[in-house]
Amino acid sequence: MRIGVFCSGGDAPGMNACLRSVVRSALSAGHEVVGIRRGYQGLLDEDFYINSDGEPLMTLRSVSGLTKFGGTMLHTSRCPQFRTEEGQKKAAAILRKCGIDALLPIGGDGTFHGAVDLARHWDGQIIGCPGTIDNDLIGTDFTIGFATAVQTAVEAVDKLRDTAESHERMFLVEVMGRHSGYIALHTALAAGAEVACIPETPTDFRQILEHLKVLKARGKQSIMVIVAEGDEEGGAEKLNQGICALGCPFSTRVVILGHLQRGGSPVTSDRILSTRLGDFAVRSLLAGHSGAMAGEVRGDLLLTPFETTYSEHKAVPPELVALLETMAE
Ligand code: ADP
Ligand code: F6P
Repeated sequence: MRIGVFCSGGDAPGMNACLRSVVRSALSAGHEVVGIRRGYQGLLDEDFYINSDGEPLMTLRSVSGLTKFGGTMLHTSRCPQFRTEEGQKKAAAILRKCGIDALLPIGGDGTFHGAVDLARHWDGQIIGCPGTIDNDLIGTDFTIGFATAVQTAVEAVDKLRDTAESHERMFLVEVMGRHSGYIALHTALAAGAEVACIPETPTDFRQILEHLKVLKARGKQSIMVIVAEGDEEGGAEKLNQGICALGCPFSTRVVILGHLQRGGSPVTSDRILSTRLGDFAVRSLLAGHSGAMAGEVRGDLLLTPFETTYSEHKAVPPELVALLETMAE
C-alpha cells in the first residue's frame, strides 16, 4: 500500500513524532509512505518530500531523531482552495495519478472536514490523527500537542506570578483555544490561577469583581486570570477593560501568550501519544478501515468517524471547573 501522510491546520508539538511513527510503522510492515508537504495546499501543488535518492518517498532515515522536535518537518498550511469542490476534485485526481491508496492527515477539525469532503470524490482510505493544541476533538481524551501547550502556558504563568506578587498586581493571561477552554482550564489548575474565563461557562464581570474583592480582603497579593481566546466576552484585553470599568481592586496587566504555545519540544506524554496514534492509524489503514480518526480514550486506542469528532463541542469536565473554584480561595 502507498500511504500519503501530511500535517494540516495549526501545527502542534508532537506532529513530528507522529510522522516518525507513521513512517516507521508503515515501512516495517512493507508499505510505502509519500510525505505531502504543506497540507492540502501541498497536495494540490504536488509538493512531495523527496528522499536522498531523489524519490518522492519517505525512508526510515527521513524521520531519524524527530520525536524531540516541535513543529512539523513536512510543514503545514491553511488552504482555502481545498474548501471548494473544484479543489477537492483536483486533489482526488492527483492522488489517483500518484498511485496513493490511502491518506493519513494529522490535523484538527478543519482537516477532518476536508477529509470527509475529499472522500466524496476519491475512493482511497483515510485515517487521521488528532494534531491540534486545542483538545477540541471528540474521540480522544487528549489531542497531540495539548499537553505541551499547557506546559508552556503554565511555565509562563509561573513566571508572571513572580512579578505579579512583587507588584501586588493582577495579570490577565490569554491562552489559545479557538473555541475551547481546555488549555485555559488546565493551565489555570496547574498554575494555581484564581480565575479562568472560558467559553464553556458564563463570564460575568460583576461576579468576578466580587470574587476579587473577597480575595483581596483575605490577603491575596496577586491574581492570575487565565482567559481563553474564545471566551464569549472576548480576549484578555476586553476582559481587562470590562473588569477595570467596574473598579478592579488590583492594578492590572495583560499578557497574550499567542503562538508561543504552539512551539517547543513536545513533553513526554505528547511524544508517547503521537507515537501510539501514528502506529495505530497505520495499522487501522492496513486492516481496511477508513473515514475515521485514531484516538486514545482512557488508555485504549480506538477509531471515531470523522463526522463525530467535530459533531459537537467537546465539553470541559465540570468537576475541573468546580475544583478550580475550590482552590482559588
Ligand atoms: P485544523 O485542522 O487545525 O482545524 P483548519 O480549520 O485551518 O485547521 O483546517 C485545515 C484545512 O482543512 C483548511 O485550510 C482547509 O484547507 C481544510 N478545511 C477546513 N474546513 C474545511 C471544510 N469545511 N471543507 C473542506 N476543507 C476544509
Ligand atoms: O487551532 C489551533 C490554533 O492554535 C488555535 O488555538 C488558534 O486560534 C489558531 O490555531 C491560530 O491560528 P493561526 O496560526 O492561523 O494564527
